[in-house]
Amino acid sequence: MGSIEMGLALRMWIAGLLLLTHLVHGALCWGDDGHYAVCKIAQGYFEEETVVAVKKFLPASADGELAAVCSWPDEIKRLPQWRWTAALHFADTPDYKCNYDYSRDCAEDWCVTGAIFNYTNQLMSASEDSLSIVPYNLTEALMFLSHFMGDIHQPLHEGFLGDLGGNRVKVSWYNQETNLHRVWDDMIIESALEKYYNSSLSIMIHALEDKLKYGWSNDVRSWGSCQRNETACPNPYASESIDLACKYAYKDATAGTTLGDDYFLSRLLIVEKRIAQGGIRLAATLNRIFSSKPKLATA
Ligand SMILES: *[C@@H]1O[C@H](CO)[C@@H](O)[C@H](O)[C@H]1NC(C)=O
Ligand SMILES: *[C@@H]1O[C@H](CO)[C@@H](O)[C@H](O)[C@H]1NC(C)=O
Ligand SMILES: *[C@@H]1O[C@H](CO)[C@@H](O)[C@H](O)[C@H]1NC(C)=O
Ligand SMILES: *[C@@H]1O[C@H](CO)[C@@H](O)[C@H](O)[C@H]1NC(C)=O
Repeated sequence: MGSIEMGLALRMWIAGLLLLTHLVHGALCWGDDGHYAVCKIAQGYFEEETVVAVKKFLPASADGELAAVCSWPDEIKRLPQWRWTAALHFADTPDYKCNYDYSRDCAEDWCVTGAIFNYTNQLMSASEDSLSIVPYNLTEALMFLSHFMGDIHQPLHEGFLGDLGGNRVKVSWYNQETNLHRVWDDMIIESALEKYYNSSLSIMIHALEDKLKYGWSNDVRSWGSCQRNETACPNPYASESIDLACKYAYKDATAGTTLGDDYFLSRLLIVEKRIAQGGIRLAATLNRIFSSKPKLATA
């Protein structure tokens, strides 16, 4: 076998393995595509110091590409030593409460918002002094922060506690049985890829990048900024998500419903905007973290 076929065989094998893992576990967060898109879009908005710092902290397996490791927290969260991280992927609200409240929904900082503050602070501590005395693993901090910035923008990561953010709401997506959470993690994106983007995630990402430049352009600056001078400001993102969950995700999608074109076409716009906002806000947060650390760029 030539090296090209070898490479192909290996990739098919890995793809098969990933598919199997996916089928066995099911997906519980923006699927891999959603996370990849958020991080890929963010990369386009990195300032110079951020490019350098991110490269420094990425694991070798990322091959210099943040997007390549943005699903890592999903891959590890069922391993015994990482099970404690599972609750950091979301911030559910009491049933039928369409607002979010940090002290109520993020007790002891134990939710996606608290985790975003936590990993931002760890990365901030990096450059203040010498890297060697930082007691955290900043590779993990970067991968967690990038992943959770995606999760917080998936409306059903701020869903209701009683149905586990839509995981217990059984619905059909066209003729496929699934649950509402997965519809928002994966199905809407997958259907969009097939219908509009020739099954190519990179074509979809390019379309979102164009929308950011020519469509949403007036809003993009405000998406990235924080009120007061915070480095990270995830609370408003969580408030937006539960509001969207009530207005769009849960609406007309009670258990047993078959969701089709009406739901897909009206919700796709929300999903695309949330992915784009996640990317812009991840880039803005990392830029704020690393712009104050010129030392890192030269270390
Ligand atoms: C913050 O991160 C550290 C290191 O991963 C972890 O031990 C701690 O539990 C985290 N706390 C929160 C609130 O996420
Ligand atoms: C940091 O975390 C990554 C991912 O878990 C791991 O591969 C690496 O060995 C860790 N580095 C140190 C110094 O512990
Ligand atoms: C769509 O994808 C297929 C397979 O990758 C490719 O052969 C075809 O040229 C693509 N069509 C367009 C319009 O890009
Ligand atoms: C934000 O930071 C600037 C410059 O450090 C400072 O002048 C300003 O007062 C700060 N604003 C708030 C609301 O903290």
